[in-house]
Amino acid sequence: MLNPKVVSADLFPAPSTTSRLGAEVLRVKDVSRGFDKNQDELLVLDGVNLSLREGEIVGMLGRSGSGKSTLLRIIAGLIEPTDGEVSYLGKPLDGPAKGVAMVFQTFALFPWLTVLQNVEAGLEAQGVGARERRERALAAIDLIGLDGFENAYPRELSGGMRQRVGFARALVVDPTLLLMDEPFSALDVLTAETLRTDLLDLWTQGRMPIKSVLIVTHNIEEAVFMCDRILVLSSNPGRVVAEIKVPFNHPRNRLDPAFRRLVDEIYAKMTARQTESTRKGLELGNWLPSVSTNLMAGLIETVAAAPYHGRADMPEIARSLHLEVDDLFPVAEVLQHLGFAEVREGDIMLTPPARVFAELGTQDRKMMFAEHLLRHVPLASRIKKVLNERPGHRAPRVRFEQELEDFLSDNAAEDTLDTVINWGRYGEIFSYNDQTELFSLEDVES
Ligand SMILES: Nc1ncnc2c1ncn2[C@@H]1O[C@H](COP(=O)(O)OP(=O)(O)OP(=O)(O)O)[C@@H](O)[C@H]1O
Ligand SMILES: [Mg+2]
Repeated sequence: MLNPKVVSADLFPAPSTTSRLGAEVLRVKDVSRGFDKNQDELLVLDGVNLSLREGEIVGMLGRSGSGKSTLLRIIAGLIEPTDGEVSYLGKPLDGPAKGVAMVFQTFALFPWLTVLQNVEAGLEAQGVGARERRERALAAIDLIGLDGFENAYPRELSGGMRQRVGFARALVVDPTLLLMDEPFSALDVLTAETLRTDLLDLWTQGRMPIKSVLIVTHNIEEAVFMCDRILVLSSNPGRVVAEIKVPFNHPRNRLDPAFRRLVDEIYAKMTARQTESTRKGLELGNWLPSVSTNLMAGLIETVAAAPYHGRADMPEIARSLHLEVDDLFPVAEVLQHLGFAEVREGDIMLTPPARVFAELGTQDRKMMFAEHLLRHVPLASRIKKVLNERPGHRAPRVRFEQELEDFLSDNAAEDTLDTVINWGRYGEIFSYNDQTELFSLEDVES
């Protein structure tokens, strides 16, 4: 089914999609968005540019917090950009546009309404008459495979069926542009695959009026499985940093070597950026992802053991551990920060200390971790230093929180501090009392 020789969808159009590739449906131009009073502090999106044309499914990949949902909400006209412009069908967007529908990760269905009434609800808001409402809702229900469930209530449906109701509700308004925010991520693997395939079938058979689809995901395989083009969004702030054409025809085969190669390539692209930022070393004000020491130890052990013996392909590790990018990348990133791993070209490689770590018992692991923590994480050494210098060797949490807030938003400062508290406790470099919110060197050997 796949044709690995085809390198660009533009040069070698896939008949099912490109025959319909045409006019511009959406243009996002220099869109930025900040939150909070001081918008510089929390710039979530920074100069995002993209366009969607008729006939294409475009994926947006990015890590948690990179601003994917924010961007979708801007495109849906639900919130405004701080800067820049969105135009839909050539006209500047001004609030929610007719013809743009959104599918969310989970659906807030009205529990007291039947499937049919839930689907009709969207049309009611548009002032469509009762008769037409019913006809169109029944058609959408039929299309999305909910036939026979018209009179069921949401509680009687499985997660997959409920998500189908969500799709029907989006499709019933005959959208031109369909926005989807991780529509399959709350579903089990099989249900998600069935729904993806059903949706792709409807798309390739041209049975929906939809001209273009934008799907947000942090699942690289899903993006390669569904999309004609994939945009990669960076984090802090979010920018489009890569665009990858997917040259395969539908239906796609995940096991095809060319498919696998492309997944690998995207992993490599996404980790390359991560490596770049990690190589510089951490600074005091850097945000740290909340990764437990258990997860770190688990990944080190897995990569150290057979069949990997210290070096593993990230997509393969993700698959075997049933982790998604968002689960795996932060762990790899933290291991890299701590000098336990290097991530290169989509592979994770353990450093010599990490190989030793894998062989150690609990107490020796803690000591080694403490050493790496103090050497590589400035916030940890900062806390330790302040405690050493203070009479009584105590310091309140707020002292460090305030220091971090010079660099980070309040929430990010709090999360980062919590992360370092967990790591510090594990490494026993300080103790922390949740009640009094005090750091101290009590019960800590120094
Ligand atoms: N209304 C808001 N007020 C303040 N901050 C916000 C608001 N909405 C989003 N943010 C912040 O913007 C950043 C991006 O959030 P967003 O939900 O767009 O990310 P995402 O890429 O969709 O993440 P995920 O993959 O976890 O869904 C986060 O740091 C979030 O805390
Ligand atoms: Mg989101």
